[in-house]
Amino acid sequence: MSYKVQLSDQQIVFMIEEDETILEAALRQGHSLPYGCRNGICGSCKSKVVSGNIVYSDGIPEGLEQKDIEQGYAFLCQAKASCDLIIKARTVQTATELKIRQFPCRVTKCEKLNNDVIRLVLALPKTERLQFLAGQYINIVMQDGKRRSFSLASPPDQDQNLELHIRHYDGGLFSEYAFKDLAEKTLLRIEGPLGQFTLQESDRPIIMIAGGTGFAPIKSLIEYSLKNNHKRSIEFYWGARTVSDLYLNEVAETWSNNNDHIKYYPVLSEVDTLNDWTGKTGFVHDAVLKVHADLSGYDIYACGPPPMINAIVESFPKKGLNKDRLYSDSFEFAAN
Ligand code: FES
Repeated sequence: MSYKVQLSDQQIVFMIEEDETILEAALRQGHSLPYGCRNGICGSCKSKVVSGNIVYSDGIPEGLEQKDIEQGYAFLCQAKASCDLIIKARTVQTATELKIRQFPCRVTKCEKLNNDVIRLVLALPKTERLQFLAGQYINIVMQDGKRRSFSLASPPDQDQNLELHIRHYDGGLFSEYAFKDLAEKTLLRIEGPLGQFTLQESDRPIIMIAGGTGFAPIKSLIEYSLKNNHKRSIEFYWGARTVSDLYLNEVAETWSNNNDHIKYYPVLSEVDTLNDWTGKTGFVHDAVLKVHADLSGYDIYACGPPPMINAIVESFPKKGLNKDRLYSDSFEFAAN
């Protein structure tokens, strides 16, 4: 049986099944309610039930106090519906509303995707979750306190198992370690969520551009929009030197093969080694400009190395792009 949940003060209504929590139902339907542990302890999801009855199938949450219950508050990460509900809860609209926290985590996957890129999956403790928006990044906190930043490649509903794409740089403090010594079960410390490279409300078609491992936040953004059934048109251009640098090419191809509103264009810059390549060549921002003489109707999301971002910032407004509709994340590389 399903019920209706309305968020008072907001034009938001979503459906909830009997066996899911209010938080699960909201997140599943793309409404970002605030949360922390998702275990009934931290209280980040505490909200007032204005009308209707909730049930706790696993008992009253550990962190919920009697006086809160008497005042009509509930922990939405544990509460389920037994009828239609009206809840007074705020939604997370911007990245700055999310609290930055530190977590211990364990490496559960350390897999080479090509000669230069490793996919890491970091598992948080069972009682912890990282709430983030698609496109954000985290820091890995090294033992000496230095930080290295990596975009989250997974969508926000994977809030306990976090995927990162680590590129090898000679002399890179964390990347050298990741390629030589890092193994599954290693314990790390992270902090996040960080960054404001997130999807903004609009009806305009989107052009997404990635350079190298700039693919990671684009993957998070596209997987998030697919899970939430968004139908805005997306053209995705992925710039790389050679075919092997398109380290998850089949993932991007699947997006475009299975969804009419997504188009994928890999662009290779090292023409000497192209062999039988018949796709786009040159710099990735030039490839976009060759297709689009007028960018005035688009939103642009770009993530990659500083030269790529600088070229976009420099050239796209000359083709009509409103600068306020350019969202970018520039990978700054810091060696030791
Ligand atoms: S009590 Fe921590 S998220 Fe609900």
